[in-house]
Amino acid sequence: MIFYLSCTGNTRYVAAHLAQALGESLVNVAEVWQQGPQEWQLSKDEVVGFCFPVHGWRPPLLIRRWMRELRLIPAEQSGHYSFAVCTAGDTTGETFDIFRADLREKGWNLDAMFSLRLPNTYVGLPFMDVDERERAQSKWNETTAVLPKIVCDIKERKSGTFDPLRGRWPRINSRLLGKWFVESLVTDEPFRADADLCSHCGHCAKVCPVQNIVMSEEGLPQWQHRDDCLTCFACYHGCPQKAVAFGSRTKGKGQYRANEFQKDL
Ligand SMILES: Cc1cc2nc3c(=O)[nH]c(=O)nc-3n(C[C@H](O)[C@H](O)[C@H](O)COP(=O)(O)O)c2cc1C
Repeated sequence: MIFYLSCTGNTRYVAAHLAQALGESLVNVAEVWQQGPQEWQLSKDEVVGFCFPVHGWRPPLLIRRWMRELRLIPAEQSGHYSFAVCTAGDTTGETFDIFRADLREKGWNLDAMFSLRLPNTYVGLPFMDVDERERAQSKWNETTAVLPKIVCDIKERKSGTFDPLRGRWPRINSRLLGKWFVESLVTDEPFRADADLCSHCGHCAKVCPVQNIVMSEEGLPQWQHRDDCLTCFACYHGCPQKAVAFGSRTKGKGQYRANEFQKDL
């Protein structure tokens, strides 16, 4: 069983590839989270995988909230191999340490961890933009080239941390900047739709992983300010009219669409 979260398609591609190659079922955390707490019955020796993007050098808030409610049956890991894969635009910091500690609270250990570099989707700070097309393509090429090796490692039940993206200051990034990121930057307050550009298609609401956008009677998106926005920018990147803005911080910036690089997404 492979649980995954993907806001803009990168991790979905990786998770779907692994599920197909390993013959595992795929569970979308964003979908099952909406249905409330559930138990997950594992068959004998079944592999359990977790795939998610890195958000502020940590696992995304939705993954951490969902983990708190997670019920795996059996509750003891005996015989089950577990792995995590995260995708990041640049560096992961201590993402895996944080995730492993969360999983340990459930009585489960993480046997293997793999990080993969894919195009950046974060555009919420003045100096951050999407990757140039060439750079984005080369990240996809590198990651798709390494996926078969990861499949082999999982099939052989290898254990260890394969995290080439950990970066130079993992602790500072994840604990200090990561805390600031969650406390100050994860908010839907600055999101707006330009009424002159918006075509009322509702795509932004459809792609929001936490269903935080409701279309008004005038057909404009309204962010609900409910405290569960991940600031993942799925609404911004997905808008066909480029009508969604995050205050002035997305002015002049690009949009990213994973399906321009992976046609089967
Ligand atoms: C809110 C947010 C925070 C991010 N933080 C990081 C980060 O700390 N380090 C990094 O390398 N990439 C970061 N990224 C980039 C994503 O991890 C990367 O683009 C990922 O592949 C997106 O996966 P997805 O399309 O499956 O959501 C961030 C993206 C978002 C939206």
